[in-house]
Amino acid sequence: MDIPDRADRLKWIYATRGNKKLAERYDAWAEDYDEDLLSYGYKLPSVCIGLVVRHAPSPEARLLDAGAGTGILGESLHILGYQNMVAIDLSQGMLDVARNKGAYRELRQMTLGETLDFADDSFAATVAMGVLTLGHGPPESLDELVRVTRPGGPIIFSMITSEIVQHQFRAKQDLLEREGRWSFVEVTAPFQSMPYDEPDITHRVFVYRVT
Ligand SMILES: C[S@@+](CC[C@H](N)C(=O)[O-])C[C@H]1O[C@@H](n2cnc3c(N)ncnc32)[C@H](O)[C@@H]1O
Repeated sequence: MDIPDRADRLKWIYATRGNKKLAERYDAWAEDYDEDLLSYGYKLPSVCIGLVVRHAPSPEARLLDAGAGTGILGESLHILGYQNMVAIDLSQGMLDVARNKGAYRELRQMTLGETLDFADDSFAATVAMGVLTLGHGPPESLDELVRVTRPGGPIIFSMITSEIVQHQFRAKQDLLEREGRWSFVEVTAPFQSMPYDEPDITHRVFVYRVT
């Protein structure tokens, strides 16, 4: 598959409809993904890593990286001593790149928004970085992330600050809180997530704790 120039790759991804096509596009992008994201000035990893270390400080903790992609997050956490991480992603091509980093104990192709093939309370902490958004992991993904994270465990996820996306996810976030399934812990201030590619886009990173 031909892929567009580096400056147009995110737009090409955002324009994709349907999980099959999305997986094909990420498969095609996988080899270049890390270099591209670094060139965009990708800031989500440093913020998410800080929050993992703050809220899931035990390196032995079994941690789920949901929508792990090429494993940018896992690679750094592994350097910090995290040894028990599981990666899931829609795209096998992205997971293949992640596998080569040797950071994850397990890597599985799974789709957020569908039932995940894990028992209840399987993880001490869960992270979903750059994946919960329109056209990727839908708000219902949060139900399964809560189910597979054990009580007391943090769920850390990034969210674009666009009205439309926040509106959709906010309803699910609030419902989970009203149902007593998780409680809010903290949220970062908005920050430019890819300043050299999308200077107008900002993200925040949320932390909830499963109850
Ligand atoms: C922007 S990348 C982020 C990857 C990685 N977390 C990072 O921050 O570099 C989005 C990733 O989410 C995956 N993805 C998209 N929709 C998904 C879904 N419904 N379930 C699981 N993974 C999904 C894509 O295959 C891709 O690897």
